[in-house]
Amino acid sequence: MRSGSKIYLVGAGPGRADLLTLRAAQVLARADVVLYDRLVSAEVLALARPGALLVDAGKEHGRQEETQQRILEQLDFYARRHAHVVRLKGGDPCVFGRGAEEWQWLRERGWEVELVPGISSALAGPSLAGIPPTLRGVARSFAVVTGHACGDDEPDWQALAAVDTLIVLMGVARRAEIARQLIGAGRSSREAVAFVENATLASERVVMSELGAVAEGIVDVANPAVMVVGEVVRRREALAGFAAHNLQEAGVPS
Ligand SMILES: C[S@@+](CC[C@H](N)C(=O)[O-])C[C@H]1O[C@@H](n2cnc3c(N)ncnc32)[C@H](O)[C@@H]1O
Repeated sequence: MRSGSKIYLVGAGPGRADLLTLRAAQVLARADVVLYDRLVSAEVLALARPGALLVDAGKEHGRQEETQQRILEQLDFYARRHAHVVRLKGGDPCVFGRGAEEWQWLRERGWEVELVPGISSALAGPSLAGIPPTLRGVARSFAVVTGHACGDDEPDWQALAAVDTLIVLMGVARRAEIARQLIGAGRSSREAVAFVENATLASERVVMSELGAVAEGIVDVANPAVMVVGEVVRRREALAGFAAHNLQEAGVPS
């Protein structure tokens, strides 16, 4: 083991470079190697130290476990040779990012690890699009769930039906099934749904709909997107001036 090496597990935020934390920018500016995930935007990567080795650690569809093991071994490999190794993940590393698993694996091998949290797309995506997860008098609770899992890992939709605002990550492919499950669990088919695609980036698109239409499979959405279900979605219109202003500042046509 190379003494003095450190591995940083860094959240890249939802996309826009100015949504990175100051600590993340500092760490990137000193990086020798950056292993980055598919959802890390080009503008965030551009903040890595000029000359840093940039390694695409993107997961191949259907081969996640193999790729995950390869990433862990790459981190170990680079830390033996370089002082500052950055593992850069979209959003927050510990929100459906396997950050904690990587942290534990690296600690078991004796590496010094620093976690740098990031702004999760789960919250920043909806909020910047004018959909606040909580709103006094409208939504007192929210939950963030994965839409990817199925079978035994399927979220408990019955329990989640009682949550005011439901935020689903990785739910694009199964959106019709998720909507059917929520209606089956007692949510209204007229309940508002929004999908925030490419949140915070120039290519951002917000698709507004209702659970019934999503359940029928007639709502077009592309990955990556954050799905939001709840009354707060309807408040977007009232906040639209605010949201449009934010997007304009980010260079997004409103
Ligand atoms: C593996 S999860 C990682 C989440 C990430 N750790 C976070 O905190 O944002 C990937 C999912 O996050 C959501 N996501 C991440 N970045 C996004 C973005 N810029 N726009 C919309 N959805 C995004 C999508 O639901 C995507 O399928």
